[in-house]
Amino acid sequence: MSEAQDETFSPRNITVLGGLLLLAIFLGEVVIGQHGDDEMVAEPVDTMEDITMRLQPVVSLDKMRSSMTVASAAGDTADKSPDQLYQSACLACHSTGAAGAPKIGDAAAWTTRLGKGLDALVSSAINGIGAMPPRGGSQFSDDQIRAAVEYILAESN
Ligand code: HEC
Repeated sequence: MSEAQDETFSPRNITVLGGLLLLAIFLGEVVIGQHGDDEMVAEPVDTMEDITMRLQPVVSLDKMRSSMTVASAAGDTADKSPDQLYQSACLACHSTGAAGAPKIGDAAAWTTRLGKGLDALVSSAINGIGAMPPRGGSQFSDDQIRAAVEYILAESN
């Protein structure tokens, strides 16, 4: 009985145990090391962010467009002169006559329309008419729509 115990705690077995312990520590470090590597491997996710950053010029076009809308909604357009209002929201259609829009500078077309009165023109610009969306798709206030309409008329007589 005691022989077996002696056997268990013999210097040789302690050496073996010690070796196993060292091996366990070594393996543990390898595992930890690999865990560290896993964190390294996780880096491509960061790289995806980098790619997104690099793609930002494309993204920021949308941002610019939405911030323009937000700026309009926030009343930042209050600073805009009538010709700037026209250029930012009306020119697209009224300079080309797109979708049958009366062209700026077309005195005959605008004189005919002005027959129903300035207020009527302003209110159809506010509410939309035919192919023209309400406010030409802008966030302009009623006063700004009126200013843009007056600008178009002034440029068309
Ligand atoms: C998407 C194109 C488009 C945009 C943008 C647009 N319009 Fe128009 N607009 C039209 C079309 C098309 C008509 C003619 C509609 C009809 O008579 O059927 C029109 C007509 C008008 C009329 C005449 C309304 C009437 O009662 O006869 C006014 C005034 C006018 N637009 C002002 C503006 C102003 C001011 C802006 C900018 C804030 C603007 N539009 C932006 C397409 C546009």
